[in-house]
Amino acid sequence: MPGCIVIGAQWGDEGKGKIVDILTAEASHVVRFQGGNNAGHTLVVDSGSGPVKTVLHLIPSGILHDDKVCVIASGVVVDPVVLLQEVQGLADGGLEVADDALLISRDAHVIMPYHCAVDIAREERRAGSKIGTTGRGIGPAYEDRAARRGVRISDLLDRDALRERLEQVVPERNVALEWFGVAPFDIDTLTDEYLAIGDKLRRWVGDCRQTLADARRSGAAILYEGAQGTLLDIGHGTYPFVTSSHTTAGGACTGAGVPPMSIDAVLGIAKAYATRVGSGPFPTELFDADGEALRAAGHEFGATTGRPRRCGWFDAPVMRYAVMVNGFTSLAITKLDVLTGMDELKICVAHDVDGQRLDVCRPDAAAMERAVPVYESMPGWTEDITGCQSVDELPANARAFVDRLSELSGCPVGIISVGPGRRQTIVLNSPFAGS
Ligand code: IMP
Repeated sequence: MPGCIVIGAQWGDEGKGKIVDILTAEASHVVRFQGGNNAGHTLVVDSGSGPVKTVLHLIPSGILHDDKVCVIASGVVVDPVVLLQEVQGLADGGLEVADDALLISRDAHVIMPYHCAVDIAREERRAGSKIGTTGRGIGPAYEDRAARRGVRISDLLDRDALRERLEQVVPERNVALEWFGVAPFDIDTLTDEYLAIGDKLRRWVGDCRQTLADARRSGAAILYEGAQGTLLDIGHGTYPFVTSSHTTAGGACTGAGVPPMSIDAVLGIAKAYATRVGSGPFPTELFDADGEALRAAGHEFGATTGRPRRCGWFDAPVMRYAVMVNGFTSLAITKLDVLTGMDELKICVAHDVDGQRLDVCRPDAAAMERAVPVYESMPGWTEDITGCQSVDELPANARAFVDRLSELSGCPVGIISVGPGRRQTIVLNSPFAGS
């Protein structure tokens, strides 16, 4: 019963989509367990007529494979309008989402338009203290879930249930929206619109927990696809500059409703450097030509919002923290090719916070804001590595760099990504192997 969780080790955008896409070949089920359409996985699939770029926000990237069940579990907040657009986009590309290819939990919460409106209005009002949310209504939807007044997917299939929920929540949301100067929402209109949407989704709605339990019993390999990254976890990230869900490994069990003992491997995905979108501390952030070079070479612009990502050097104290919190059994180092051509590569080995040296980062936003990175340098390489198929083919300096990242993080490297394509991946050790 192999179960593998894939987690972003940094601030999201580590290239999880591509790694999940590759590992999906070994799995029968791919499960999203938290977040929503704030995530954006860019996949480049080598089709017969050349590379094709696909961005998925909600549907697990496993949908691009045949015979896989893609699960959107109860821990996810679902914007059903976006979900249907994604289904349509796939259909336009020639991929019809079959009834048994997608399973949406009856218990997943729904992102309603008033959630997006509140998210955006709040951010506008925050002026200088913005969190930099994606504006997708993620936080407000999780608020309603915690307040036990959220609309669930099952409510979209039942007029009375939906109406009852909306009568509870919309008047209160409208008061707040009015205060923000935003037009109120009408319960009748929302009821009709969202029942119609529910009708379109009905064929994919079901019981994820039972499906996953049955799959485990039959020996299926299950991949749990994390969204965002460790430092964006609501409980373990740089609060308040975080998202509203548990992005760390424990979130897979609570979000999908599976037992911890069913997990055999936790794969941490880390870029060979670091990026962050939105506000919040980022000790190794670069404001110079190196930062620009990373952004340009790494195409560091958000897959969801198009925002330029903040870029910086690899931060080992952040990685040690991620290893500690998630219990990574191995790492995938991504975007190694982006560093090609840089003379000197820096790695942050410790944070200096008020004169105290920290080997493991302290994710307290104020303290991390004061962290001064302690760097060591390594020589770069100039050879094109995008065609390397094995570690032996990598230049010696690239091999030494990866070895040092592994050593400093305290975790073995199982996968190295040297380009966006599926084939540009060196797999030393699959997390599914031996489980
Ligand atoms: P929210 O998830 O839209 O509420 O945004 C909260 C914070 O998480 C912001 O700093 C976002 O930029 C960040 N964030 C949310 N989703 C992602 C993601 O998929 N990748 C990177 N950052 C993200």
